Amino acid sequence: MDTPTAEGLLQRTVAALHGARPEGAEAGGTLPVTRYTDAARTARERRFLRTQPQPVAASSDLPAAGSWLTCGHLAAPLLLVRQADGTVRAFLNVCRHRGARVAQGCGRDTRHFTCPYHAWTYGCDGTLERVPQAFGFPGLDLASHGLRRLAACEHAGLVWVVTDPATPADTAITPTLQPFIAEIEALDLQHPVAFAPRTYEVAANWKLLLDGAFEAYHFKIVHRDTIAALFVNNLQIVDEANHNRRLFLPKANLDPDRPPPATAASLRRHGNLLYFLFPNTTLLVQPDHAQFSTLEPLAPDRTRVHEITLLPAAPDGDKARAHWQANVELYRRTLGEDYAMAESIQAGLASGANDLLTFATFEFSAPHFHADLEAALEAHMEPA
Ligand code: FES
Ligand SMILES: [Fe+2]
Repeated sequence: MDTPTAEGLLQRTVAALHGARPEGAEAGGTLPVTRYTDAARTARERRFLRTQPQPVAASSDLPAAGSWLTCGHLAAPLLLVRQADGTVRAFLNVCRHRGARVAQGCGRDTRHFTCPYHAWTYGCDGTLERVPQAFGFPGLDLASHGLRRLAACEHAGLVWVVTDPATPADTAITPTLQPFIAEIEALDLQHPVAFAPRTYEVAANWKLLLDGAFEAYHFKIVHRDTIAALFVNNLQIVDEANHNRRLFLPKANLDPDRPPPATAASLRRHGNLLYFLFPNTTLLVQPDHAQFSTLEPLAPDRTRVHEITLLPAAPDGDKARAHWQANVELYRRTLGEDYAMAESIQAGLASGANDLLTFATFEFSAPHFHADLEAALEAHMEPA
């Protein structure tokens, strides 16, 4: 992050603490509850998400050429392989013979992947290299039967993949993450180390989980036993660009009469930066580490959450590990408070109490996200 950005955020925070509401002329809004309950809609959202960049793994889990790992995201079994030139390639982990899963788990120093069913063998670059008993496949074109390669790139210590194979593998992903991905990487988040990853499910719509991330109105109530005292009540400085956004959530240690220096480090000491990368990923930047989370809708009322904590360097002993683990625990406890609230909302949506959910002016970021998603779904061409 550059100094003018840090300076601007601090100036706007100081103005807000002196009484100027930062949301200015922003309008609130309402959203129909069917956005969170309709199965056909969730299926459409899943198809759309498969065309969007998804952070599926940590770069630090693929440390050298020949490192590989398998994972799954949005119904796509994935195989990620670090190439000799240092880039990461992403493939559908599906054999081109009769569809078996080619690899399981993870490994290092690998040159080939041999399918466990009939031993078709692929190179690290996905090329089909060997077909046993090849005489039985007259006319088989090896060149067009390599593993299906997906568009992929690395940013902020994460491997981003478009899981829809109809998207050409050479599609540039980076522009859709801008302008904020460059800012995130400038915050010493270019080569972080993954810590304490976890995947779990929440009984609520994925968009309810995001709505809660876009406002600090609830901090004092929901987070009263965890983080509320650390933060200014109900204040978020929001910037939106290219469907992505940055929220600055100022901490109570920011004295408006003695503003801190306008540097990225001091900004991080006096507030959290929450980046949202459209459509389903957040990155919470804390003073000395970051937590990313991506939301995979499974059903209208079910979401799989993928989380990874990103550290500036690998823990160098038990003391360091305990420090980071304590940070992770507080994050999980706080998020648990949010997600319990989302589950209680989801459970009441079908009751008929509300046809619409209502958002205040200072909660404008949620209706903006929904409008962006709505426009993107409209623009997304569904195959006939
Ligand atoms: S399914 Fe992979 S070799 Fe047959
Ligand atoms: Fe919260």
